[in-house]
Amino acid sequence: MGELTVQGAKNAVLPVLAGTILNKGISIINNCPQIIDVKCMVKILTSVGCIVKWEGSTIIVDASNINNTMVPEEYVREMRSSIIMLGAMLAREKIVSISYPGGCSIGIRPIDIHLKAMKKLNVSIEEVNGFIECDATNMVGDTVTFEYPSVGATENIMLLSIFSEGITKINNPAKEPEIVELQNFLNSMGADINGAGTDQILIRGVSKLHDTEYTIMTDRIVAGTYMAATAITSGEVLLKGDIAQYTESIMDKFIEMGCILKKYKEGVLFKAPKRLTPVDKIVTRPYPGFPTDMQSQIMSALTVAEGTSVIVESVFEARYKNVDELTRMGANIYTSGNVAVIRGVKKLQGALVSARELRGGASLIIAGLAADGITIVENPHYILRGYEDIVRDLGSLGAKIYLKMTGDEFEEGKKR
Ligand code: EPZ
Repeated sequence: MGELTVQGAKNAVLPVLAGTILNKGISIINNCPQIIDVKCMVKILTSVGCIVKWEGSTIIVDASNINNTMVPEEYVREMRSSIIMLGAMLAREKIVSISYPGGCSIGIRPIDIHLKAMKKLNVSIEEVNGFIECDATNMVGDTVTFEYPSVGATENIMLLSIFSEGITKINNPAKEPEIVELQNFLNSMGADINGAGTDQILIRGVSKLHDTEYTIMTDRIVAGTYMAATAITSGEVLLKGDIAQYTESIMDKFIEMGCILKKYKEGVLFKAPKRLTPVDKIVTRPYPGFPTDMQSQIMSALTVAEGTSVIVESVFEARYKNVDELTRMGANIYTSGNVAVIRGVKKLQGALVSARELRGGASLIIAGLAADGITIVENPHYILRGYEDIVRDLGSLGAKIYLKMTGDEFEEGKKR
């Protein structure tokens, strides 16, 4: 039986780092995962004038002086979630220009919900040559209602409204734990936000924020990824961190698959059966539903279950890019639109496969752990965007796994 401490949450630390520019002073953020996306956010903060120091898993941001209100296009293209800089920059500098974030391999990723809510709050927005030019000088607090509980849009409006006159209400916000984390971080700096995790978030504008030190929560998706790795290899692992409270929907599915999970104060003890039981249906949904970010990983585990399972991906329109690669390993998966039917096979075969995006890439590693023979996963840099050191982590649990990146890929990954 192995044990592993799970890294800090990528999808919490990114909006928290954006929020550090709301304090014209020092913010100390602990338990930051050393991943490509966090390196990219650090570069963005530096590019607008922050002084950023990274000491182990602690990032220290001095945002006393911001000298640039343009978020560099190269970074927005590299990481579309940098759009959350928009709300924070507007709250601080009022005038901001940011390039339109492109789509990515899992979907077109529009930002209409973000922009509609900003306009309701009287932010003027012009889209010029692929850039979004915003002016929040006349912004007022008001009520915005999301047609879809967008995580990024919820974060953007929370950040945008920190200093605004009056009260801003967000109806139908995202309820993800990372939203609650952002509320708690901002309130630790003196903001006045309530309701994160519920159907309405309420932000009372304040005049300024102060220095803070904050520790980021455990990454529930990385924890779920390692549960899937343990499940497919009939293993037993103690996953350490504040995991249980945010992974109910994930754990419920693994229990349905025949796994035994025991919750402790310091984490979750996960024990898999010899062979997994299939699940009737997994439908990905906004929190507290089954997370879309775990869909690829649990699909890999289901490829060797004793029967047929169905997955419905209801959040993103193109999140089955890993299916072709799993099929090359002998999986039996049929997809039609956003439905995938997975007929369990006895054994997968090792093969040369390609990662095309973060979670799909992780799913190929999971499949390779249980396959006969060697599996080579190309483009590992996609996986390093969200996993601090999946090779170290799985290796410590007994996996025979090695990272070999071409010089350029490694340089590229390191540089970011
Ligand atoms: C966040 O992305 C996460 N990223 C994603 O994790 C996660 O999959 C997603 O939330 C859903 O939980 C970060 O937190 C950095 P959304 P985000 O806005 O904010 C549509 C990972 O693997 N939509 O909730 O982009 C959109 O197209 C990444 O860690 C609009 O139509 O997600 C999508 O279909 C992948 N208009 C759905 O909503 C908008 O204005 C969910 O998007 C905004 C979103």
